[in-house]
Amino acid sequence: MPSVQVMVSSPRRFGETARRDRWWVQPVATFLALSAFILYSTWAAFQNAHYEFGAYLSPFYSPLLFGPSVHAWFGAEVPWWPPVLPYSAAFLILWAPGGFRLTCYYYRGAYYKAFWADPPSCTVGEPRSRYRGEQAFPLILQNVHRYFLYVALGFLLVLLSDVWKALWFAAPDGSVSFGIGIGTLVLAANVTLLGGYTFGCHSLRHLTGGRLDAVGERPVRAKAYACASCLNRRHMLWAWASLFSVGFSDLYVRLCSMGIWTDVRLL
Ligand code: FES
Repeated sequence: MPSVQVMVSSPRRFGETARRDRWWVQPVATFLALSAFILYSTWAAFQNAHYEFGAYLSPFYSPLLFGPSVHAWFGAEVPWWPPVLPYSAAFLILWAPGGFRLTCYYYRGAYYKAFWADPPSCTVGEPRSRYRGEQAFPLILQNVHRYFLYVALGFLLVLLSDVWKALWFAAPDGSVSFGIGIGTLVLAANVTLLGGYTFGCHSLRHLTGGRLDAVGERPVRAKAYACASCLNRRHMLWAWASLFSVGFSDLYVRLCSMGIWTDVRLL
């Protein structure tokens, strides 16, 4: 009877690989881009100032629950905020879009590689020998993504209403007229890109496509599933484009509010 030889390779050391391509470029670029966004958004959230300019409201502060602004939903002051803690209106809301992105299937794959090197890239040795995956604490918490999706859909509606408000400009005499400024377009582009990102969510595909065994009987759900699947094919692109646009929208409103940039009225 012929003998069978089984080759058992020893586990790779951290960073060891047979790959000859520049596999490290993508994780390094992801690390730099995400770090830059986290640093900027944290700084902007702590400012609690220059988040509005006329009818424009920064998406980092929308919905504005409390604040000395016409955009505020419930008044100027938060009655229950502990005075010993630093306060910003952004703290009240940023957990929602932040949690949505943090638990996104695409970003998980990206930051597991870029920040935890677990693994740094496909077929590259990783620093840990035990793999516990997302079945155990703490990564099992990533499964709340579906619930963040529900909240993100609500945020989209709010940002859409911000675009509507950005179409109405107040004159010095108090009258309000329809118009379009560069800021209107910036906010509109932002909500469009966020929509492409949110509606291409994997969880939305599951929600629309789950139990969809008889496509002909549920044409609306089938169309929603096809739409989500179509957007999902470029989910990475939507993720990065919308991340950039949300940061740029805040920057645009901030610099206009500080008088550094001038908002041009197109209409
Ligand atoms: Fe990326 Fe849901 S999977 S937003």
